[in-house]
Amino acid sequence: MLRSLGKLPEDQRPAFGQAVNQAKNRVQTALDERKQHLQATTKSKPREWIDVTLPGIRREIGRRHPLMQTMEELKTILQGMGFRYDDYPEIETEYNNFDALNTPSWHPSRDMHDSFYSEQGHVMRTHTSAFQVHAMKQASSPPIRAMTAGRCYRRDEIDDTHFPIFHQLDAIAIDRTICFADLKHTLYQMLTAFLGPGIQLRFRPSYFPFTTPSAEVDVFYRGRWMELLGSGMMRPEVLRNGGIDPAEWRGFAFGMGIDRITMAKFNVTDIRLLYENEAAFLTQF
Ligand code: DAH
Repeated sequence: MLRSLGKLPEDQRPAFGQAVNQAKNRVQTALDERKQHLQATTKSKPREWIDVTLPGIRREIGRRHPLMQTMEELKTILQGMGFRYDDYPEIETEYNNFDALNTPSWHPSRDMHDSFYSEQGHVMRTHTSAFQVHAMKQASSPPIRAMTAGRCYRRDEIDDTHFPIFHQLDAIAIDRTICFADLKHTLYQMLTAFLGPGIQLRFRPSYFPFTTPSAEVDVFYRGRWMELLGSGMMRPEVLRNGGIDPAEWRGFAFGMGIDRITMAKFNVTDIRLLYENEAAFLTQF
């Protein structure tokens, strides 16, 4: 309309121009007000839109297996106490799994570890303790605080508490003045952080070929005593196998079953559920 202004007789132009300008301003004001209103009222709500590139069928987000949750949490707790984490092979030399841990082939305790033998001189590790000599050799020199966790294998009959695959976490601490009290303190700290305050631990004298003195540790959790882990002061033979002079250094070690504590924490009553990978079970955690 403003562009057509030139075609009008000269005397009508001012009035027409004014009227058109007023109309334009009213429209502009109305638009501005509406825009402001919309901005004010939609700001707090997320903008809704449809992403047409997403798949049409809904998928649940994946989650961590309860065993992995437990290992991850224990690992984080121990890392906070200065332990370094590394993964170690599941197929081990018989030497690392047994001999280096003061368990020669004639040793009766090898019977407790009914092993899966792999190629000549190798086994599927029967415990994560197999990492100990590796870790000592890998470190340039003590002090050492090291741990690992993962799968272990034994020829067990399958029932509600036994499965040929299971999980352990092992840790060692080597320093000039390490003593049994350090072991107790570490276990109290770790298990309190994991299970919550107010737990009780019971140290029972025990035997392992690679520690002396040795203790099995039970925890009082949810109204009952539960056997949890093996532990002790590292034997001089084991330190020596790791290239460490036992006259100068001493260490503690412990090894803990992950499956049982996971079952206790998540109220799982049959270990087989942990290995069947049923979505209906796994999505509960
Ligand atoms: N490796 C032992 C087992 O599987 C547990 C164990 C006991 C680990 C004493 C240790 C230890 O590191 O010091 O039954």
